[in-house]
Amino acid sequence: MLGKTPPMGWNSWNTFTWDINDELIRGIADKFITEGYRDAGYEYIVIDDCWSLKERDSHGKLVADPKKFPKGIKSLADYVHSKGLKLGIYSCTGTHTCAGHPGSLEHEFSDAAQFAEWEIDFLKYDYCFKPRNISGELLYKRMSLALKNCGRDILFSACNWGEDDVYNWAREAGAHMYRSTHDIRDNWESVKGLALSQLDKTAYTGSFCHNDMDMLVVGMHGASNDDFIGKKGGCTDTQYKTHFALWCMMGSPLMIGFDIRKDHQPTKHILLNRDLIAINQDPESRGAYRIKPEPNWFHSNDVFMLVKTLTNGDIALGFFNLSDADREVPLLFWDIGLPFASGISLSLYDCHQHKELGIFRERFAPKVPAHDCVVVRAKFSLDAGV
Ligand code: GLA
Repeated sequence: MLGKTPPMGWNSWNTFTWDINDELIRGIADKFITEGYRDAGYEYIVIDDCWSLKERDSHGKLVADPKKFPKGIKSLADYVHSKGLKLGIYSCTGTHTCAGHPGSLEHEFSDAAQFAEWEIDFLKYDYCFKPRNISGELLYKRMSLALKNCGRDILFSACNWGEDDVYNWAREAGAHMYRSTHDIRDNWESVKGLALSQLDKTAYTGSFCHNDMDMLVVGMHGASNDDFIGKKGGCTDTQYKTHFALWCMMGSPLMIGFDIRKDHQPTKHILLNRDLIAINQDPESRGAYRIKPEPNWFHSNDVFMLVKTLTNGDIALGFFNLSDADREVPLLFWDIGLPFASGISLSLYDCHQHKELGIFRERFAPKVPAHDCVVVRAKFSLDAGV
């Protein structure tokens, strides 16, 4: 079964765009092991756009660019598999991919067979150059059928940027994850905008079909080779910390965009946070709901709490301050279904400091600096002497 919890991995696009090759992907696979990414749960290494030649061969098959991938895709898949990891590739519903390489329109079944032959494990399927009069929903259903019947387990990552009411049909169409937003950029406004845009969509995510808020820019600090994604400094480490916590709490797939061959401790620290990953990977994959803090008139929409019900009865609580000023962000336990009269308190564990904070009754009100967050895991506590 694929996609029970949000897929985790690395994707070439955000940092490298067109500039990808065999050596890069093998190097990333090596770092998955030596830097602890595989042990933390990251699994898929995805080659995004620009891996193929601009024309199919005389049999109508996709051809890996021999300059970039001289040993071919199957050899790369073998290498990635030898590390206990999985390999992903990219195509498009339309005639061409977004960067102008051949898309899979009218080649869905033969392309899926070819991906299976190469032992691919994941397909990201984009939305560029789709003829206007063909339904996107139908094209995703087509590729889903092709993948499900190609003789290999291939996770289906739909990428239509939240368009055409995708929330209403992605699950039925067979996608294991579906992009719900336009492309992320390596700056705070983009990260914040994407998160805010999905706060009222949490009912549409869940096991086997996850709302994909786009790949992470955590740690990139302006390292993309593409102006659109961002070459200008990126975010602060605090903003990246909040970005990661939002994606974890909101159940998004966690696809790293940072060049993990670089040794940058604060970034590693964010991406390998096991307590946050455990929340993201909770088996039931429930969406998180939002609560606005009281008093209502004081807070803007960019200060909020997220509550995620976990399988073992714990509750993950995220206190997010996306505003530009420091704030106290108070949660009344009443608002998550816990009346004072029940005699139940919450024992709170801080998922960034990795320590117990103690037992709290009736409310918890952390002070959260601008652009920062606090995430705690709450357990029921019956021994508060009430
Ligand atoms: C679209 C997608 C991106 C990336 C590029 C590749 O913009 O949304 O994630 O795959 O195409 O061209």
